[in-house]
Amino acid sequence: MSIHNKIQFFNENLSIKINSLISQELCNKLIKQYEQFSCSNPINVTSERIINEYKEIVFQEEIKSILNNYFGSKYQIFWSSFDVVKSTALEDNYSTLWHLDHGIPKTLKLFIYLNPVSQHGGNTLIIDKERTEKLIHANALPLEQDKRKADLTPILEELNLDTNYIEHNYKTGDALLFNPLLLAHRCLPPDNAQKRYTICFTIIKK
Ligand SMILES: [Fe+2]
Repeated sequence: MSIHNKIQFFNENLSIKINSLISQELCNKLIKQYEQFSCSNPINVTSERIINEYKEIVFQEEIKSILNNYFGSKYQIFWSSFDVVKSTALEDNYSTLWHLDHGIPKTLKLFIYLNPVSQHGGNTLIIDKERTEKLIHANALPLEQDKRKADLTPILEELNLDTNYIEHNYKTGDALLFNPLLLAHRCLPPDNAQKRYTICFTIIKK
């Protein structure tokens, strides 16, 4: 797909998979660096250092074009994090249930998969804008974390809507750019004893 088509696709769908945004070597290096945290070099410091160090590599021309076009102006990174989701995440991580993020209008998230979905099964599931709007009206995406649902199939069926989710087979270094305020989403907990490593950038208009 040409850059022009990618820009158009993103503006229409508010989500796009970007293949091989960063190299496998870099992903392995980042995971290794992250796992080398210690008392003197705690996780939050480690994460911040890693992300700052590699920001330039992530925000390449293609991503920049999509972002500039979507925002109609310059953009800024509002927040960034190095996220490690474990197989027990359903118990304590509310991102594993269906939800919408809340925040500044037009906010986007860029997830980069440092290890592949085929290894951990911790995929990100998305529902398109039209169905998300209907789910909001049906009160199926509550703000309260303890009311969030792991399965929306019965509600989608009740509303006579397609029950398929948007999901991709993210390989090492692939990325997902999407609007988490307008598209319902959920991160599947990884399979037994596996960890899902991602880097996430929250991006807003400058
Ligand atoms: Fe979210």
